[in-house]
Amino acid sequence: MFDLNDKTAVVTGASRGIGEASARVLDRHGARVVLSGRTVSDLERVAGELKNEPVVVPADLSEPRSGTALAEAILAEVDGVDVLVNNAGIPMRRTPAQLTEDDVDLVFSINVRSLLMLSLGLGPSMIARGGGSIINISSVAGLHGPQGRVAYAGTKGAVDAMTRALASDWGPQGIRVNSIAPGIITTAIWEESRNTVPGLIEDLAQRVALKRWGDSDDVADVVLFFASEASRYVTGETLTVDGGMAKVSASAAAAALPELDDG
Ligand SMILES: NC(=O)c1ccc[n+]([C@@H]2O[C@H](COP(=O)([O-])OP(=O)(O)OC[C@H]3O[C@@H](n4cnc5c(N)ncnc54)[C@H](OP(=O)(O)O)[C@@H]3O)[C@@H](O)[C@H]2O)c1
Repeated sequence: MFDLNDKTAVVTGASRGIGEASARVLDRHGARVVLSGRTVSDLERVAGELKNEPVVVPADLSEPRSGTALAEAILAEVDGVDVLVNNAGIPMRRTPAQLTEDDVDLVFSINVRSLLMLSLGLGPSMIARGGGSIINISSVAGLHGPQGRVAYAGTKGAVDAMTRALASDWGPQGIRVNSIAPGIITTAIWEESRNTVPGLIEDLAQRVALKRWGDSDDVADVVLFFASEASRYVTGETLTVDGGMAKVSASAAAAALPELDDG
């Protein structure tokens, strides 16, 4: 069911964190993985530990037209693509007063524009192979209204909306398009906040029904599900992978209100 032999999978942001874990799990299940990101030494470190003839194709997805250029560079290296994991992304923590137009351009260029253009560039190759699976990594930030992250939340809401629209466009040609909205996952994205905000780890863990931060493998295993035949009748979906933070924890908080106490 999770067999990816003879499949080629592209993972952006494969040099660390959720992308690295996704590249590893897809390789373990038989896929040939194309790894992308900016830092070639990190990509080569990960590729060096994969077994199915991995390929490194670097790109800076903040650059204009880089999504299209990356699709062309990938198709020059491999015969075609079956799975695309659009994972590369940056955070943008700014109050409304701090946020500049350059900040907005930067976060939208990577998290939204290049994600879409890479998908459009690789889609025809999937169609030529009879279909495929596109997995977009969005965020729970796109599902609620987090303080101090209006631009980031906007990019992730856009990713979920594009997921549904592209699933509609390409469903007839056999391409499934889904997104994963991670909650709090221990990766480099949190490094600065973890070191500078006292008690952050404990505070955030309390908001999660499962009472722990997620790790990259918690998300990568869901990437495997969407890449594989196990999810063959699922498209246009956004699946939160957040230990119950978005849905369960709100009801847990309500249960603690005095008027709901049994006593
Ligand atoms: N960790 C969380 O709690 C969390 C929660 C919700 C959603 N997410 C989402 O999950 C995805 C992965 O995040 P992560 O936590 O694994 O972050 P991470 O450890 O910071 O990894 C980000 C990846 O994206 C690549 N990247 C960054 N800027 C890039 C650019 N301009 N061009 C090309 N690649 C670029 C990085 O490689 P280089 O630096 O080498 O380019 C790296 O491989 C992101 O889309 C993020 O928004 C994460």
